[in-house]
Parts: sequence; C-alpha cells; structure tokens
Amino acid sequence: MTITRVEKLIYGVENMKAGGNYFRDWGVTEVESGPEQTVFRTRTNQTIELRLADDPSLPPSPDPAKSTLRRAVWGVRDADGLKEMSEDLAHDREVTELDGVLCFADESGNGLGLMLEAPIETDVEIVPHNVNTTEPRMNAVINPAAQANPIRIGHVVYMIEMADREKAVSFYLDRLRFRLSDSTKTGGDFMRCEGGHDHHNLFLVSRADRNAFDHASFEVENFDMVMIGGKFMKEKGWDQDTTPGRHILGSNYYWYFKNPAGGRTEYFADMDRMDDNWKPRIWDDSPGFALWTVDDATS
Ligand SMILES: [Fe+2]
Repeated sequence: MTITRVEKLIYGVENMKAGGNYFRDWGVTEVESGPEQTVFRTRTNQTIELRLADDPSLPPSPDPAKSTLRRAVWGVRDADGLKEMSEDLAHDREVTELDGVLCFADESGNGLGLMLEAPIETDVEIVPHNVNTTEPRMNAVINPAAQANPIRIGHVVYMIEMADREKAVSFYLDRLRFRLSDSTKTGGDFMRCEGGHDHHNLFLVSRADRNAFDHASFEVENFDMVMIGGKFMKEKGWDQDTTPGRHILGSNYYWYFKNPAGGRTEYFADMDRMDDNWKPRIWDDSPGFALWTVDDATS
C-alpha cells in the first residue's frame, strides 16, 4: 500500500454558485456544473467536487463551519495495496465503499477516503532565470498573458485539538504510512505521503480546542504564477487571507485566499522535496511562519 497524493477533495457547500465561481477564478478546469454538484479537475487529474452541505452522501465533519471540506480522498498506487489498507482499517473503524472510494474517518472525525490513483502527465513550462553572465532565456520574453492553471493539489491542512495530537498524528504515520518531515511542539506536524516527495502533503496544526479544516494548496509553476494567480483573484473580488510570502518550513512561496466553499486555498510553488534520507526535524520553538512577506503586493 503506497499513498501517492491527494486524489479528490469533496466539499459540502452552502452556496454552490459562490463555490463554483471561486474555483473557476482559481484556475482549475470545470468539468461539470449543476445546482447540486459542481466538479473541477487539476491538470494532473485530481478532482474537486462541490456538493450541497446537506447532501446525505457526505460524511459528518468536526468542523463547525457549514461550508467545509467533507472528505479528502488519497490516491493509492495499486489495487493490492488498497485491499491491504482496507482490511487493516476495518479492524478498528467502519470502512464503506462509495463510488469506487473506500470511506472512513481519521482519529479527529475528518472524512477520509482511499482510491486508486489516476494521474495524468502534464507539460510544465520551466521558465529559465537569467543572472549575470548566465543567460538561458536569450531572445525570449516573459509571457505577459500568463494565467494560473494549477498543476496539482499538493496538500491539505486540518486544525486538530492539542489534546488529541499524538493519536491524530500516529494514525497517519503508523496506519497510512505517511512520513514526518518537521514537527514543532507549539505548531504541528508536517507529513508527506509514502509515495511522494513534497515536504508536506498533510499538515496537522495543533490548536488548544479546535478541530476544523484549514486549507487546500495548489501548485503552480513558479513565483510569478503565485503572484499572477493571486492578483487575478483580488481583481475578481475574492479576499486574501495573507499577503504573499515564502514559508520557512517547506520553503514554498505562498498566497492564501478565503474560500466560500470552506477554509482557504493556497497557491504554492517551489516547495522543499524530501525522500527517506531526510531526518525529521523536531522543533521546540517554531522557526516562524515566513522567511519574508510583503505588506500588499498588488496595491
Ligand atoms: Fe499550505
């Protein structure tokens, strides 16, 4: 059993129109639109489904917000692994099958799923960077018409109650075989999929008394695309939740926006990559949220 990536995010929303408009402006590709369900895909074939918050097929959520992420479905590399995982999970929790997804809940009550991965290759343009006498972008200009079209969903983040932290994190590490990348005593635990290299595909933020979905993060090509995507969202009237910056843990460029479908979304680029040679870092004090931020890049 090897989990490789986020395969599908299922939101329950109070306002389908607002949720659909938000993800349309975010730049993911719309594949289905209706009053009860709207569906988007990333360029690597991950699905974002919006359903009405009172849809009976949706699992409960510990998040008090009415519009929120109701199920995060993780992609598994092969059918044997999926079966092995299902049998293991059934020892101590209910596992049901729905539309090809094995459905269950984590230790905090967040709806989860497992399904076979179905990635699609996509061409990613690497824009060369000129510096001093190194001139890889000779006679080529930066495209002034570029628009963000997220390549993939990189990670999801939940806030979890501090008292339940050890149990919550152990479930992902021991049962779903995530790897720990960084852990801060006052902040939380950054974990990556067994079959992936991102610094984190999952971050559990430890809070005093709160279980809630926090954000989903979408990779774009580079820093320019983080800024171009965010600038477009602001022009469309969506509210930013942070200014742009660069994280310390994970090192990725970021820009967060408030999502009417639930929580926040983040554009990210250039995250640290780790394999099993990486030794998890345990921090007594968090090294901080950002290497740098700007007050407002678009005013
Ligand atoms: Fe993030």
